[in-house]
Amino acid sequence: MKLRFLLFPILIILTPLLFEDDNVFVLEDDYSVAKVLEKLGDNSGWYPNKDIVGASSSIGRDIFHTGFATSIDGKDQRKQSKHFVCTSCHNVEREDPDLTVSDPEARMDYALANDLPFLQGTTMYGAVSRRYYYNDDYIKKYGDLVEAARNDLRGAIQLCAVECAQGRELKDWELESVLMYLWTIDLKIKDLGLSDEEKAFIESSLEEESTLEAVELIRSKYLNGSPATFLTPDHERASYASMDTDINSGRDVYIQSCLHCHDSQRYSYFNLDTTKLTMKYLKTKMETYGDHSIYQAVRYGIYSTSGRRSYMPHYTLEKMSLQQLADLRAYITYRAE
Ligand code: HEC
Ligand code: HEC
Repeated sequence: MKLRFLLFPILIILTPLLFEDDNVFVLEDDYSVAKVLEKLGDNSGWYPNKDIVGASSSIGRDIFHTGFATSIDGKDQRKQSKHFVCTSCHNVEREDPDLTVSDPEARMDYALANDLPFLQGTTMYGAVSRRYYYNDDYIKKYGDLVEAARNDLRGAIQLCAVECAQGRELKDWELESVLMYLWTIDLKIKDLGLSDEEKAFIESSLEEESTLEAVELIRSKYLNGSPATFLTPDHERASYASMDTDINSGRDVYIQSCLHCHDSQRYSYFNLDTTKLTMKYLKTKMETYGDHSIYQAVRYGIYSTSGRRSYMPHYTLEKMSLQQLADLRAYITYRAE
């Protein structure tokens, strides 16, 4: 027998032995956090169901960014919502410099540095790694509907498709596709800022039976639910006079946020721009209690009516600080003069 025929089987038998010592799990920077959690036995329950025919992450991406997708049999579907796409209200990139707090002022700095809009909905980046959705005060707005969404990402997507986007429910293959897309924009290990010791601890846990501490360590590095505090505008109107304000910060709010939807009526029938005329209009309405007052629009949102289904989501305290709203007012007042 030729030598190489003998060597082959020997090498195959030897390979696992030769590499045994090096065969430890290495936590790479670009690993998905939710996938590492799965490996550690912390199964979220929203791993995509691969049995659904015709679902894919690229279809999910299309639905998320354009509202449309073509089904496997080539049929174009009705647009998910006449008024919005998911990106009207949600970023798909990281948007917080420190993942363990929800701080709108730090988020604004991050948005400016990374050219992102500043929105009412939380980013979908890392959504699959969170545990809780529609948190805290959202129960006041959606009541029992929150039950199906609070601990279930599929439920959260459907709630938002119907209630936030004012559109239709997603079909099974569309829902599974959106989920697959969300898995592609998960938090990455590098986002967590783990120390070398922490990484080594997680790597060694992946080899062992007990993994609970590693799961807790990973989950302590970011918010597992996006906090939500609702406010009423009255207190803010009253405290304005005693606040120091910053016109530049107000301009940032106006441009990164309001104009994202209102510039050239992008996602809204109501047009906003930076002309003096528009600023004068917003200034006159400011102190009123009608829908055109920035206080009402920001803290209560604008509800849909039977003739006009589109609506504006309100800003929670975590999405716009008291200071930012005061700054917005100062900017509008300054520009109106
Ligand atoms: C008009 C604005 C708007 C549109 C359009 C919209 N959303 Fe939302 N969405 C929100 C708001 C506001 C919340 C409240 C909770 C949060 O994100 O902090 C939310 C929450 C969510 C949540 C739960 C997030 C969390 O961590 O609590 C998911 C998931 C979600 N939306 C998915 C979608 C998908 C998918 C679409 C497109 C089909 C969509 N949304 C369209 C505004 C919107
Ligand atoms: C996610 C998109 C979005 C963002 C961001 C947004 N709006 Fe709106 N806004 C809407 C929609 C949709 C309506 C509903 C009425 C419509 O379609 O014109 C609306 C309505 C309004 C109205 C009442 C208009 C009316 O005809 O009743 C005002 C005033 C307003 N917005 C101001 C603001 C200000 C100020 C900001 C920034 C702090 C802002 N909006 C940010 C989408 C948005």
